[in-house]
Amino acid sequence: MTAIARASNIRFPHRHLLGIEGLSPDEITLLLDLSESYIEYHRQADKKRAVLRGRTLINLFFETSTRTRTSFELAGKRLGGSVINMSVATSAIKKGETLIDTAMTLNAMHPDVLVVRHPDSGAVKLLSEKVNCALINAGDGSHEHPTQALLDALTIRRRKGRLNGLVVAICGDILHSRVARSNIHLLTTMGTRVRVVAPPTLLPAEIERLGVEVFNDMRRGLEDCDIVMMLRLQSERMHGTFVPSTREYFHFFGLDYEKLSAAKPDAMIMHPGPMNRGVEIDSEVADDIGRSAITEQVEIGVAVRMACLDMLTRTLPLSAAELA
Ligand code: NCD
Repeated sequence: MTAIARASNIRFPHRHLLGIEGLSPDEITLLLDLSESYIEYHRQADKKRAVLRGRTLINLFFETSTRTRTSFELAGKRLGGSVINMSVATSAIKKGETLIDTAMTLNAMHPDVLVVRHPDSGAVKLLSEKVNCALINAGDGSHEHPTQALLDALTIRRRKGRLNGLVVAICGDILHSRVARSNIHLLTTMGTRVRVVAPPTLLPAEIERLGVEVFNDMRRGLEDCDIVMMLRLQSERMHGTFVPSTREYFHFFGLDYEKLSAAKPDAMIMHPGPMNRGVEIDSEVADDIGRSAITEQVEIGVAVRMACLDMLTRTLPLSAAELA
């Protein structure tokens, strides 16, 4: 399967990757298969490929990031592209330039891919209508974070051998989480049963319309599930008080061994990072190498970003050298 994704000149039928919503199971599988083949590449000593030779990638991050920005940078460089990181803190945005003007300025420099993270839901889609390069959403407000959902799905598929029929419990601050939204779209599209587990204050209204089961109790939500995905309280997106205290939140919703015992004995623990130890997850559980896939998610993240950059820049038939 992975050989097909790499070797044939298959194109992704979209110019941009703005979200998971609307992607078909075949399109998702194509990206996962190509990502899988890149995992092997970046475990080799020589990680350089020429797939992006001559291409320019600009990382434009209006929010802080460790994993996502670094992994896009690594992915671009390992594929042989030129990578520029725009630091918003030192850019003309600080002088009052609008988002669109900044994007149009960068667009005039002919990048091939713009990777954008922005605090406003919908901002990346708006930009996609203004630029003529490929655009990847690296997280827009509480809307979508498609590459995170792809890396989560690949982590699950590699450990469990499939997505279809598994039970995944996504726990914590669902309301403010673009990771939750993208994961819900991806997993339900691929036939995974998704549960969301959170206090009512941290659940969006009518979330069940996305095809998920809703729980307000951790033990019931985790019962016999295959995957436990924990999310951080995203206080930077909160206006007002959503939980009485982090201590109380940990007591009821923090993942510890006691709550985890409700899940299947081989249930895998995931977290997109950054983690707040002692708030949504107990330190020992997070570091449990037998159960936690948290560092594996980071590794797979680079491969997924390589695959997305590769797929979205396939405008010309790839040469034999590029495929090697
Ligand atoms: C997530 C994000 O930025 O949405 N982090 C990430 O990309 N790894 C989750 C979060 O910030 O809690």
